[in-house]
Amino acid sequence: MVDKAVVAFSGGLDTTVVVKYLQEEYNLDVVTVTVDVGQNEDYKKIESKARNLNVKNHYNLDCKVEFVKDFVFPSIKANSLYQKKYCLATALTRPLIAKKLAQIAKKENADFIAHGCSGKGNDQVRFDITLQSESDLPIIAPIRDLNLNREKELQFAKKHGIKIEKLAKRFSIDQNLWGRSIEGGMLEDPYNEPEDDLFLWTSTKYFPDEATYLEIEFKEGIPISANNEFREDPVQLIKYINEKAGSHGIGIIDHIEDRIIGIKSREIYENPAATCLIDAHLDIEKMAQTNHEVRFKAMIDDEWTRLVYSGLWDEPLKKNLDMFINSTQRNVTGFVKIKMYKGNLRIVGRKCKNSLYNKNMITYGNDSDFDQRVSSGFIKLWGMQSTEANKLQKNV
Ligand code: ARG
Repeated sequence: MVDKAVVAFSGGLDTTVVVKYLQEEYNLDVVTVTVDVGQNEDYKKIESKARNLNVKNHYNLDCKVEFVKDFVFPSIKANSLYQKKYCLATALTRPLIAKKLAQIAKKENADFIAHGCSGKGNDQVRFDITLQSESDLPIIAPIRDLNLNREKELQFAKKHGIKIEKLAKRFSIDQNLWGRSIEGGMLEDPYNEPEDDLFLWTSTKYFPDEATYLEIEFKEGIPISANNEFREDPVQLIKYINEKAGSHGIGIIDHIEDRIIGIKSREIYENPAATCLIDAHLDIEKMAQTNHEVRFKAMIDDEWTRLVYSGLWDEPLKKNLDMFINSTQRNVTGFVKIKMYKGNLRIVGRKCKNSLYNKNMITYGNDSDFDQRVSSGFIKLWGMQSTEANKLQKNV
């Protein structure tokens, strides 16, 4: 009997080539699994691509809601931007896809689990670590194991009559509901400006002539509506924000990124909704949290993001940080008003249910109860040591 491998399949160059390699070079039966995390592909087409490759079985799993609720929302609570730029779109899907692969492998009684990651990237780390804790099956990664590169893959694809789409020939692209990542080709020279036709979600010219407002409602740190709509539909909510913000050219990121394994890479991202929602969330948090909480949480957010980027989604520390982060979201409930106009995003208003912003304190008008005279005593103590040290140094 022939052994069986379950493989994550997107229908793109890497995973298509991997299916063929598993069959031809490793002599395995192959079962393909496509996990729908909002990449908005034609899943019928992906299935027929898989069937044309003579796979033994194909699964298409709609995991959009799970992805948003269990992966994207926690990342919003953590204001997650790796190296202050990357919203983790790809990184967040990997543990979810790996968990699904392990489940299907069990169901299919498979002997191996396979993926199409190279040995240069982050995804191999993320897939392998989750797979190792979800399953005891050996992992095969043909592109890494056979030291393949895109040239060789394209040749292999051509030899086997596998059709690859135009853009996929030029770049390596990964997309889901939370963002689109583009690497490779002319982008490998970090001085090359990305060509406009690379961007599918974000306009680079011809913006609407009217500003668009987005009123985002948060409940305990989670976005629950936009312009009072999509209350029951978190997937639609994110799609809507992607479309609105994308049409104004919001959310293009050009980033020099430090990969887990120590390589620097140049990445282009399109993530209009992530740009809006993380900005809005950061803003409303400042209404709800004390100065100490805001400062300390920024460090926790950064560590959370680093762990998730690095493939440690199920690391106990990450779960501890989740508990901390959740407990800081109690009062993060209210509205943030965003204005977008011709490539520009501005937060122009916010209101929060249990806000620490107190107009009575801050007002320049004459209706404040704040006794300004108490401040001078505070300043004396606050600056006391620094003043003393400066005087000693200057021999005053
Ligand atoms: N650098 C990002 C990450 O590691 C995105 C990788 C996306 N892959 C791609 N083929 N474009 O999460």
